[in-house]
Amino acid sequence: LGYDLLVVGSANADLVIGVDRRPGAGETVLGSDLAVHPGGKGANQAVAAARLGARTALLARVGGDAYGRLLLDAQRAAGVDTVGVLVGEEPTGVAVITVDRAGDNSIVVSPGANARLEPGDIRAAGSLLASARVVSAQLEIPMAAVAEAVRSRAPGARLVLNASPPAQLPPQVLAACDPLVVNEHEALALLSGHPAAEADEPAAWASALLSRGPRSVVVTLGAAGALAADRNGVVTVPAPRVAVVDTTGAGDAFTGALAWRLSAGDVLETAVRYAVRVGSAACARAGAQSSFPRAEDLAVLPDALPADEN
Ligand code: RIB
Ligand code: NA
Repeated sequence: LGYDLLVVGSANADLVIGVDRRPGAGETVLGSDLAVHPGGKGANQAVAAARLGARTALLARVGGDAYGRLLLDAQRAAGVDTVGVLVGEEPTGVAVITVDRAGDNSIVVSPGANARLEPGDIRAAGSLLASARVVSAQLEIPMAAVAEAVRSRAPGARLVLNASPPAQLPPQVLAACDPLVVNEHEALALLSGHPAAEADEPAAWASALLSRGPRSVVVTLGAAGALAADRNGVVTVPAPRVAVVDTTGAGDAFTGALAWRLSAGDVLETAVRYAVRVGSAACARAGAQSSFPRAEDLAVLPDALPADEN
């Protein structure tokens, strides 16, 4: 097959302001100079995988504006094939992001062109879909487009889906996930109303999610690493301790790296061990794509501490 990974998803220009603290309703605060970075969960996953060596293509939609060009340039610079990036009349998606002193972010996305990525666009990209070993998706594009990508992937192609921002998944999408990737917020949102959501136990969330049909589930746990669950059981993978500068896009770096290692034939636990290191490296630098490591950057990360010392 032609590609290790096809990412189907969003591309946004990230407009980032550093703040001491976020304003409440009716309040004004002063922040840092504005930084404009290429972002969007789909575009981020594609850059993360390509930078690590995966033959990667992106299926996405941007506008014919300066932000769209910024995003296309960033994909090409990372080595992503952009033949599947459509350029429409709508404005490119934008994410307005504040990053606080702890490196935590809050994000508001204006989907723009991402919202116009339609099932017909996915069908028109049939040859791309047919030539990828792994397809990965997130939920900043219409669910109908995600469902069409799941339906039209190559026979035997693996699906990695990051349910971000969280939304309930159609059963045929859920059943195809291998894995479904969620962070703590997303796990709790998907399990809202389920007794497992009452417990502060990621392993219980993973089991509850697994019982809904995906072949495997990965819960990312920030500085505590990640947890992988499938029929064989649950493993927790600790993360290297890094000085956090900006967590923006760390989950996308994790998922892109995970999808790439699964495409290369790693078993889930091995792929998660690798992806946790990639996600940690992404937290140590500013921005999303600008912070994603190359393979050689991973060698200099500190070793993971055992989970009980984190
Ligand atoms: O996951 C981080 C990303 O979320 C940002 O790059 C922003 O564009 C939003 O999509
Ligand atoms: Na970062």
